Amino acid sequence: MIDDLWYKNAVIYCLSVETFMDANGDGVGDFQGLTRRLDYLHGLGVSAVWLMPFQKSPQRDDGYDVSDYYAIDPRYGTLGDFVEFTHGAKQRGLRVLIDLVVNHTSIDHPWFQEARRDPASKYRDWYVWSKKKPKNADEGMVFPGVQKTTWTYDELAKAYYFHRFYEHQPDLNTSNPEVQAEILKIMGFWIQLGVSGFRVDAVPFIIGTKGPDVTTPKEQFDMLRTFREFMQWRKGDSIVLAEANVLPETDMEYFGRDGDRMHMMFNFQVNQNLFYALASADTRPLVKAMKATKSRPATAQWGQFLRNHDELDLGRLEEEQRQAVFAAFGPEKHMQLYDRGIRRRLAPMLGGDQRRLELACSLQFTLPGTPVIRYGDEIGMGDDLDLPERNCARTPMQWSGEPQGGFTRSDAPVLPVISGGPWGYEHLNAAVQRRDPESLLNWTERIIRMRKEVPEVGWGDFAVITTRDPAVLVMRYDWRNNAVLFVHNLAGTPREVAFATGIDGEHGRLLVDLLGDDHLEVDETGRHRLVIEGFGYRWYRVGGLDYLLRRSEIDSRPDTRAGRSGG
Ligand code: GLC
Repeated sequence: MIDDLWYKNAVIYCLSVETFMDANGDGVGDFQGLTRRLDYLHGLGVSAVWLMPFQKSPQRDDGYDVSDYYAIDPRYGTLGDFVEFTHGAKQRGLRVLIDLVVNHTSIDHPWFQEARRDPASKYRDWYVWSKKKPKNADEGMVFPGVQKTTWTYDELAKAYYFHRFYEHQPDLNTSNPEVQAEILKIMGFWIQLGVSGFRVDAVPFIIGTKGPDVTTPKEQFDMLRTFREFMQWRKGDSIVLAEANVLPETDMEYFGRDGDRMHMMFNFQVNQNLFYALASADTRPLVKAMKATKSRPATAQWGQFLRNHDELDLGRLEEEQRQAVFAAFGPEKHMQLYDRGIRRRLAPMLGGDQRRLELACSLQFTLPGTPVIRYGDEIGMGDDLDLPERNCARTPMQWSGEPQGGFTRSDAPVLPVISGGPWGYEHLNAAVQRRDPESLLNWTERIIRMRKEVPEVGWGDFAVITTRDPAVLVMRYDWRNNAVLFVHNLAGTPREVAFATGIDGEHGRLLVDLLGDDHLEVDETGRHRLVIEGFGYRWYRVGGLDYLLRRSEIDSRPDTRAGRSGG
């Protein structure tokens, strides 16, 4: 049962085939290159990889504009290469999730071309049309500042079509049963080729009602159950990880009260408050967000992330909080995007300070849920703010100090490799970090390993333990009579905290440090007292009777020292 729900205690690694590894030297990453890097991913210890869209596409939105759901963009290889890759992943016990982008297609998709050309075609009703320009045509844009409208006139169709995103991404009429059946067919196809589920793009928009008269879209939640049911019929352990930036009140509707809808959702609420906590060293709003998103069905799971391939969306914070995050991590206009977010990568936001990067990652890994990490963050990659919009944080993986960071033999990579300066591949790369035991890469490998050995976080219930200091967050998780406890100091200066674990008796007296030797016993007041360095973090197992026993054994061995020196 526990192992069946693999996503409850897993680490997911997100990457783009296009910018990960190029095997054939044409400057574009491909499945053969990715397949060669499977041992790297396996060594890092991740449980699953999530691939961003790789289907055929004119690439006007980095593949989130699909023109054929059943084909691979030829620049990345063939379906044969894809199956070699899923097979290789399986051999190493790695699962594969892929993006499912079905809120919209590309305008180049033959369905749309057919729909606009022929009013009698069955595809006409696969999209959303209006003879007249709808009143709210200038509202609801997802990319404000770049996208002008949500309804665009098509000369051939002589009608307006609806697009929640860019105008080259016409929305599918997802209420149409034929469209729904096609979505299932797409899922079935990729499941058959070896994937264990989907990161479903833009879920609230997929299930929302669409049309010229719709002012407030209504979510058709049944659709989510249909997706899940179908997937589980085809492959029992496959999952859906939903991109749904919704309010905590609606979370349960997405998970399904009986746990019969989405298996996983990204926790956007926690993500934004986490960045506020990092910016202000005030963890109270983060705690509030954690509590607001606490309830979920036993089989459901949160995906906890720091940065993803999009901008860091701060839209749900209060104005003052948002300004504090901007001031700390994206003060200049060109670092910001769509009036609501920051487009930088994690490491530059945190000034490349390894202590702070470890703190952020440790916090992410100990939040209730399953961590989803992004390629390059394990080595602290930077961004290229000269690239437009979100592309700045999508540059090729920096493997080594060879030309183009070892990503490609071509001198014209699909996106420029970051070169020179503090983030350049010349010294910031996986090969260099491999050789250094204290590097971020080796640290990440160790923390992933430890995180997988602490299933309490994925499966258990959390409680926030009060300290007097809002900069220090103490959390305890309980599961199956085991408890673990985490301390994070978000301030840059040392703090002294005292707290009670809430676990009585002999068992609660000792906290065993899981990452070092800083074990902690209760003091005479029955509390644990800790001086924790700036940006410090501790992972403890509560109790650790093994440790107590071992220690008394060692203490009572009179000849220990003699034995060592005397041989
Ligand atoms: C999601 C993706 C984003 C894409 C958009 C349109 O928000 O994360 O990258 O542009 O959907 O498909």
